[in-house]
Amino acid sequence: MADHLNGKVAIVTGGASGLGLAFAEALAGEGARVVIADLSEESGQAAAKKINGAGGECFFKRTDISKSPDVSALVDATVEKFGRLDILINNAGLQHVAPIHEFEEDQWDRLIGVMLTGTFLSTKYALPHMIARKQGRIINISSVLGQVGVEYKAAYVAAKHGILGFTKVVALEGAAHNITAVAVCPSYVRTPLMESQIATQARSHGIPEDEVVKKIMLEPAALKRLLEPREVAELIVFLTSDAAQAITGSAVNIDCGWISR
Ligand SMILES: NC(=O)c1ccc[n+]([C@@H]2O[C@H](COP(=O)([O-])OP(=O)(O)OC[C@H]3O[C@@H](n4cnc5c(N)ncnc54)[C@H](O)[C@@H]3O)[C@@H](O)[C@H]2O)c1
Repeated sequence: MADHLNGKVAIVTGGASGLGLAFAEALAGEGARVVIADLSEESGQAAAKKINGAGGECFFKRTDISKSPDVSALVDATVEKFGRLDILINNAGLQHVAPIHEFEEDQWDRLIGVMLTGTFLSTKYALPHMIARKQGRIINISSVLGQVGVEYKAAYVAAKHGILGFTKVVALEGAAHNITAVAVCPSYVRTPLMESQIATQARSHGIPEDEVVKKIMLEPAALKRLLEPREVAELIVFLTSDAAQAITGSAVNIDCGWISR
């Protein structure tokens, strides 16, 4: 499938770290010109430098994906520099762990703002450019927690479920314009977000950190292991290929059998 994205332009939100960085590198490896949108200036610039150093074409645009003016400026900068926008990967995300009766309301607003409102905003501003060219692929990163609930992650579970509904509407509205949308639902992946969760989960559940991985994160899974970012990036590469054109409106699981039970 090498170089199947030659000439195409992709935005990856939250592309400075973890899964987003793996997606940006994989898409650049397939010939796409990539824009990394992230809050973190330092790691975003470093990520773009790494991709350019490997022969890719990439720039970083500092963006708070939950803020409409930032998102509008991101899409404008992309089209100004690269002339088009073909692929949008809505990946930016964060976690907050607390029981509902202690869940801080500003944390609720922040998680919903980044993962749900952010996905809406970037799609809203990307669509006119995709409609004009009569092509577009939108990939929304949800989670197994977009399909089932767990304790202490109310805002994350709500946002990730919301992303599945939003993806269906994008698929329905986009079809007439040759624009498709798909949600991806990974189980736990070895990234900075996941690593920072282990300590907070240990505190919430009152158990040691190694038990969080074994007894909570991997307990429901058929395959008792974490995913690597590269594995999810390979799925993203497939989902941007012509072979995956009929996959729209749906949620694709990559979850080691996490929700099979
Ligand atoms: N790691 C996992 O186990 C896992 C599993 C399923 C789904 N996911 C989802 O994958 C996505 C990426 O997660 P990750 O594990 O790579 O996390 P990560 O923390 O390594 O990366 C997330 C990135 O999003 C950026 N970000 C946060 N708020 C932002 C904002 N307002 N505007 C722009 N960028 C912002 C961060 O700066 C960071 O670079 C998230 O949506 C997450 O929910 C992760």
